[in-house]
Amino acid sequence: MWRVLTHGGAGSDPAHVDGPKAAAVQAGQLLARGDSPLDAVVRAAVILEDDPRFNAGTGSSIRADGKTIEMDASCMDDTGHFGAVTLLRRIKNPVLVARAVMDTRHIALGGAGAQSFAAELGFGEYDPTTEGALKKFRAFVEREGRGPDPFEKDTVGAVATDGKRFAASLSTGGITGSRVGRIGDVPSPGCGLFAGPQAAVAATGTGEEIARRALAHEAYQRLARGEEPAAVVADLIEKFPAEHDLGLIVVSGLGGAGGSNRRMAWAEASGA
Ligand code: GLY
Repeated sequence: MWRVLTHGGAGSDPAHVDGPKAAAVQAGQLLARGDSPLDAVVRAAVILEDDPRFNAGTGSSIRADGKTIEMDASCMDDTGHFGAVTLLRRIKNPVLVARAVMDTRHIALGGAGAQSFAAELGFGEYDPTTEGALKKFRAFVEREGRGPDPFEKDTVGAVATDGKRFAASLSTGGITGSRVGRIGDVPSPGCGLFAGPQAAVAATGTGEEIARRALAHEAYQRLARGEEPAAVVADLIEKFPAEHDLGLIVVSGLGGAGGSNRRMAWAEASGA
């Protein structure tokens, strides 16, 4: 049995659930025809990166200088292969560049090196700035830089299995108003995401707090021990500091689960 879960980020509006749903359905179509879970989660992330309502790819958050967009993305499969990019600018689909990094001997490329790697592979220049992201930045300035609003949208992600293999993907524009050069939980294995032979995990929320706890790896270990997906998600959310955003989607042999300590648009699709 195949299964895929997608999310539009901790804080994303459940009224926009059609985005994660479309991504789950299209990723599910790939799994149903025999494509790998890795292909499925990358496809799901591309769909969500192209949806300007979510903070990844088109619609990514604006940094503290009021104009710069720097994006992080990653993907991982159950064989331990991991690929990530960080601080990538002016690219339409960072997750596709992260997927390409997986095929190199490196696990992550950042900044100018990631940029020239993308250019070498033929990824064209693209401006992901949207009016919605500029509006969010203006609201941030009006709050005198006192952090993101409670409904700050953060990160898109997907987890999938074909019944045997597992994979996870993430993509983000980071946090509105953060310093140019700030890196969160997305481009490090075990922080924002983890996949292994028994499960896949994709987190969303305050990257610093997620990374400090290596949260995706903790979730994976518990799932690999046979804990119920819904119980793992609920417990990790309960233990996370309430003042910080957290969302999780997970899948194991026992099924899938998702949840957040904020509102969150997320979806699940499955089939035989
Ligand atoms: N969770 C995404 C970030 O903090 O960058």
